[in-house]
Amino acid sequence: NKKGFIFDLDGVIVDTAKYHYLAWKNLAEELGISFSEIQNEQLKGVSRIRSLEKILEWGNLEIPQDKFDKLLVEKNEEYLSYINNMNQNEILPDAVRVLEYLKTQNCGIALGSASKNARIILDKVNLREHFETIIDGTDVTKAKPDPEVFIKGAERLNIAPEHCVVFEDSVAGIQAANAAGMVSIGIGDSAILYEADYVFENFKEMDNQFINQLITTEKV
Ligand code: G6P
Ligand code: MG
Repeated sequence: NKKGFIFDLDGVIVDTAKYHYLAWKNLAEELGISFSEIQNEQLKGVSRIRSLEKILEWGNLEIPQDKFDKLLVEKNEEYLSYINNMNQNEILPDAVRVLEYLKTQNCGIALGSASKNARIILDKVNLREHFETIIDGTDVTKAKPDPEVFIKGAERLNIAPEHCVVFEDSVAGIQAANAAGMVSIGIGDSAILYEADYVFENFKEMDNQFINQLITTEKV
């Protein structure tokens, strides 16, 4: 069976988590809500709207809808100002090697991201061509940990979910991949991503032999 590989974007292909962090931290502190790396971890993979809801919950703050919408716009403007200065140096180590290897092995390759800025970012780092199909925050109604984004990716690749593998750096994303019935591979800290089928610190640690194993074995 042909295998499909679905990549998350932020934190898997590119190191944009630091930019989300800066923008959310500024916004939270303006509201008088403290914001640390621990909280940032809980926002990984979480949609923009849900992220702001969580920050307000942490601060025990309720704000009117128009203020809420305005903050979302401000956050994204600040975030985009960082993205605008991105270049290919910000592609995470060996991500391109893995993408290219999978292509030589005739695997389906999709992007499955919660971000509405996914296409902008892929263009910035010149990686759009590497993906057969892109599912992003504009294509889904249910955010990770709901499996919708990955199920749609599998559909577009025309490959059954059980023949798909997901690379994810967030807890919500690993849960989404598991809920989709796919092989879940965490990229990051195994203490955080313990629900994943496998965890690698980064793509450098993942050799082609392991990838071959993913291509040839069936999920049981
Ligand atoms: C990714 C990031 C999240 C971010 C979400 C929405 O999942 O990990 O931190 O909130 O995308 O991104 P956006 O670019 O649409 O604000
Ligand atoms: Mg991510």
